[in-house]
Amino acid sequence: MKIDSKKLVAAAAKARLGSASPYSKFKVGAALLTKSGEIIGGANVESASYGLTCCAERIALFKALTDGQKNFVAVAVVARCAGGPMPCGACRQLLREYAPDAKVFIADSDDLKKIKMFTVKGLLPSAFTLVP
Ligand code: THU
Repeated sequence: MKIDSKKLVAAAAKARLGSASPYSKFKVGAALLTKSGEIIGGANVESASYGLTCCAERIALFKALTDGQKNFVAVAVVARCAGGPMPCGACRQLLREYAPDAKVFIADSDDLKKIKMFTVKGLLPSAFTLVP
């Protein structure tokens, strides 16, 4: 399946605008692509009790999963950060569980044309899983 990484990165950049990040002011957007071509976006949501904050990748994933979506083929993550934002360990774990075969596209919101590509499995080798 041919993946339009530019389109998915653009969707993540759009989703980023929904970020609720009054504390860090670091807006992150993510967009998941399903095998059937659906795109589900999400953005980071922060709390005054900082530890409750949820990353953009997990918001997008939770939105998608609870909406009945599955078979994720790619995820894009965008933030204003040199080289683009790499997913944190918690998000890598959740992506590994629910989107194990997905490609990961990363871009700086100020330079959306420069897209780095990774894989979920490559970002979290030897992952903990209960379901193979
Ligand atoms: N953040 C994400 O949305 N994704 C990541 O992979 C790492 C960090 C958010 C969480 C917090 O709202 C802000 O970036 C600063 O850490």
